Formats: sequence, structure tokens, C-alpha cells
Amino acid sequence: MANYECSEKFTSFLQELPKCEHHVHLEGTLEPALLFQLAKRNNITLPSHFPPTPEACNERYNNFADLQDFLDHYYIGMGVLIKEDDFYDLAMEYFKKASSDGCLHSEVFFDPQGHVERGISIDTVVKGFDRACKDATSKFGTTNKLIMCLLRHLPSAAGLETIKSASPYYEQGIIHGLGLDSSEKPFPPELFKECYDHVNENFPNVGLTAHAGEEGDSSYVANAFNHLNVTRIDHGINSQHDEELLNKLADGRHMLSVCPLSNVKLQVVKDVAELPIQLFFDKNVPFSINSDDPAYFGGYILDNYVAVHTRFGFSHEQWCTIAKNGIDGSWCDEDRKKQLREKVDEVYKKHA
Ligand code: HPA
Ligand code: ZN
Repeated sequence: MANYECSEKFTSFLQELPKCEHHVHLEGTLEPALLFQLAKRNNITLPSHFPPTPEACNERYNNFADLQDFLDHYYIGMGVLIKEDDFYDLAMEYFKKASSDGCLHSEVFFDPQGHVERGISIDTVVKGFDRACKDATSKFGTTNKLIMCLLRHLPSAAGLETIKSASPYYEQGIIHGLGLDSSEKPFPPELFKECYDHVNENFPNVGLTAHAGEEGDSSYVANAFNHLNVTRIDHGINSQHDEELLNKLADGRHMLSVCPLSNVKLQVVKDVAELPIQLFFDKNVPFSINSDDPAYFGGYILDNYVAVHTRFGFSHEQWCTIAKNGIDGSWCDEDRKKQLREKVDEVYKKHA
């Protein structure tokens, strides 16, 4: 991989800067070591074409051809998650790492359909993740929210069933958002209109987002707004080709959750330098910087911040603007946002 290291001094500023993560799939935080440990614990035999050791996994992870090639591997990997404690352990490892990176608020995706289709109940999945969310807050002082994603390669009717099965968790405030992930093309957002409408009508406080504009063109982003009523977009980098859309994102303060190292690993770009991050900054399009599937893409949130700094060299002040845009685009309450913004100012005073 290209060298994405920056000075020790700036790295410690970026570490201390209060960060919010809005785009991380809990199943994508499954490190090879834990994957093999859980396979053993649950007596799971991985398919013969799966890399046989953690080292072989890491080698394989440097050679994803595209999003689909990664997803084929990701769905096999998550097959080692069986018991509530497996989901708990997975999420707890992520929250611990995120906290050590200076990530103070995380909004985390999970893919219930990837588990239910293997015979794991949604209750097992949500109970494990929810317990980890609560324990992470008491142990690390970080806040978090669960976002359920629908797999867009499955029919919308299956998505609606999943939403109905998750209704108690939406009602109890255990799940806070709805997202849409998996193979982007040829599954445009409008296919899932009935799912988003259902959540919007029944749980009006639930946040709506969708992956769009990672491999799909800018019409995927525009149509997520037009048909799904989302307030933000995951990835969204292909918005760069549509001037009118960029203005709409800026004027409506619609945040893009950008994932730089993911884009390199899935060959969307060759280098972080090619991402439209300067363009978004200059056009006042709010964005956050995220890890997506850190166990697979070679870096957690701080690694992604550092990678962006090496290519775009933002000033302390500009980094504070980026951090505050991430706070504003979060789905936590105003008190928490205020607290986080004040922490950004403190870190700025210390470092600038
Ligand atoms: N894109 C789409 N779906 C996903 C991803 C991603 O980067 N990671 C996990 N599911
Ligand atoms: Zn993603």
C-alpha cells in the first residue's frame, strides 16, 4: 500500500481531535484473528477457497478486484458469528479500538439479513450488539447508535419483512437508523422506496441513510434523496460529477460519509489523492471520514484521517471544521453535540 504516514505531532493532533464515525459495518470489523477464533469456538468449517490463516486473509485483502469481490468474502466471514456473545465480542473490539483512536461517537451499521438467512435470529444479533453499545458507553465514555442496513441484492419485500421483524427495536430506541448496503449496481435506491416509506411513517425519529455513489453514478445519490427521504449519504463520492447535486448537498447540509482507504482497497481510486475531498471542502459539502470495513481495508478511523492529511494537508482550523461537520451530521442529541464541539475547541487551543 502507498505510504499514508504523517508527522508524529500531527498524528497526535488528529488522534485527540474528537471524531465521529458514521460509516462502519460491525461485520466489517471482524479481524482475521477473531474470525478464526470464532470459527473454532463454533465448530464452523470455512469453505476450501477461504484463506486458511490470518496471514493469508491479510494477503487476500490486498487484492480485492471490486466491491462484489470483497462482499463475496465478507458474507463468508460473517458466517462464524453464531451466538449473542460472538456479536457482543465483535462490537466490543471495535468500540475499544475506536475509543483508542479518539472516536467519541460511532453510528454503526449491521446487516441482519446476512445472519437471519443462516438461521440466526435477529434477537441474537441485536441483543449482542446492543449490550456492547451500552457497555462501551459505560467503559469508554463514548456514545453510539445502531443502524440496521438492508441488503440491496435481496428483494425489497424481504427488506420490508426485516424492518417489521425489527419493529420492537425501533420502538424501544435500540435501533436508531435505516441504511442500504451490499452490491450497489444494478440495484438503485428507488427499488427500496416502500421500505423507507414504512420506517418514515411508523418511526419518524429514525435516521435514514443509504450507500450511494460508491460504484454507482451520481444519479444513485440524487435518487436516494428523491425517493428515500434520506438526510445523508454513505460514500457519495460520485456526486462530484453533478454540480447541481453538490449545491443541494451543501445548501441542505447533507453529509457524505466518505471512506478513503475503502475506496483504495476496492479499486474505486488508485490513491486517496484522487478523491474529491478538496472539492467537497471548497464547495461546503459536509463530509465525515470513516473506515467502512476496517478489518478488511487496512485501517480504522484514525488511519483514514491520517491518510487524508497526507494527501490534502489541511490546517488545524480546517480539520476542526471537518470534525464539527461530522458532529453536526450525527444523530446524537444537541447536548452531546455541544459537548463534542467544545472538545474540538479545546483540542484546537492545545495544538494550533
Ligand atoms: N459497500 C456496500 N456494502 C457494504 C460495504 C461497502 O463498502 N461494506 C459492507 N457492506
Ligand atoms: Zn459501507
